[in-house]
Amino acid sequence: MDLIPELKIGKHRPKFPLIQGGMGVRISGPNLAGAVAKAGGVGTIATVGLAVASSDYDGSNYFEANKKEIIKCLHQARNEAPDGVIAVNIMVALTDYEDQVRASCEGGADVIISGAGLPLSLPGITKDYPDVALVPIVSSLKAVRIIVKRWGKQYGRLPDGFVVETPLYAGGHLGVTKEEQVFSEQFSPEKVIPEIKEYLEKELKVDIPIVAAGGVWNRSDMLRMFELGASGVQMGTRFMVAVEGDASDAYKDIILRAKGNDVVIIKSPVGIPGRVLRSPFIDRYLKGNVESKPCFANCLHHCSYRRGEKTFCIAQALVDAFWGRWEEGLFFCGTNVSKLTKQESVEEIFQDLFGN
Ligand SMILES: Cc1cc2nc3c(=O)[nH]c(=O)nc-3n(C[C@H](O)[C@H](O)[C@H](O)COP(=O)(O)O)c2cc1C
Repeated sequence: MDLIPELKIGKHRPKFPLIQGGMGVRISGPNLAGAVAKAGGVGTIATVGLAVASSDYDGSNYFEANKKEIIKCLHQARNEAPDGVIAVNIMVALTDYEDQVRASCEGGADVIISGAGLPLSLPGITKDYPDVALVPIVSSLKAVRIIVKRWGKQYGRLPDGFVVETPLYAGGHLGVTKEEQVFSEQFSPEKVIPEIKEYLEKELKVDIPIVAAGGVWNRSDMLRMFELGASGVQMGTRFMVAVEGDASDAYKDIILRAKGNDVVIIKSPVGIPGRVLRSPFIDRYLKGNVESKPCFANCLHHCSYRRGEKTFCIAQALVDAFWGRWEEGLFFCGTNVSKLTKQESVEEIFQDLFGN
């Protein structure tokens, strides 16, 4: 039996069933996504804050600049991988979500992967681009049911795949509302993937691929996810310091020094838990004395910093991380971050996972 399944996402067939996870702010930009798409995976550009972390941003027109930057980055990745599969990751929580989705379609994205909220309106925004595959990120069967019901009723269509992300191991914002749920077995891949698969196959009688995310590092992790019923994996942390990665060298040096016990869960200003490194900035935040830089541009629908709570501007803290400012930055990471001991090229990662 062939151990490696084929991943079919809408009309797209990557050579390998691996999606490189979107990593904002600009940790997965056009260089990384282009290299992954060229190597045969799905390369993903995280759209959040792309412009603000680019070296030629002049500080004005935050939203307009980001739309232009999305299109520019998609063209850059496409030049690198003309026949590859290129995705964008767009957070539902963003105030300019619709504009970012439209810009991604205009820029030629093959796939839109969308989480940090349920992407209930996504098919409506993309209706003029039927070839763009739509993939929600979920952490539970409940979320799958809500999306399937709403998309069916309102738009007469189904998702082209689901990224099922486990909060137990993943980096970035986690798909649960309370901190104690992060470690709950209720959200483990062993429980959630078979449950969703059974619902899709037995109840709905449809063939929609499941892509497992969170804690996948090597070939045996990947095979375990396929055994559970996934047709693909999404990996973030392993690509954080890739040679082709878009972040600064200072950022990559910091990540390479990270230890397992530096990883903590915080309540993000978005209102959900996130997995991060305990940088000096996060340390001060956890002790309750953060002095944040000002808000950039009202970029989030629900931002506790803007509502006056004692938190911080997350966009600013992520830009600081991108430039490798250890004192001021917020460094998202998965539980596997301590396994990053050297920089690998994208080709080396693919060889390790899929080579003979
Ligand atoms: C540095 C970093 C930034 C991330 N940013 C985002 C993001 O902007 N949007 C998103 O949906 N997921 C984000 N994620 C989650 C990844 O896309 C991916 O699903 C997850 O990291 C998979 O788990 P792994 O890191 O254990 O492989 C981020 C993860 C990391 C490590």
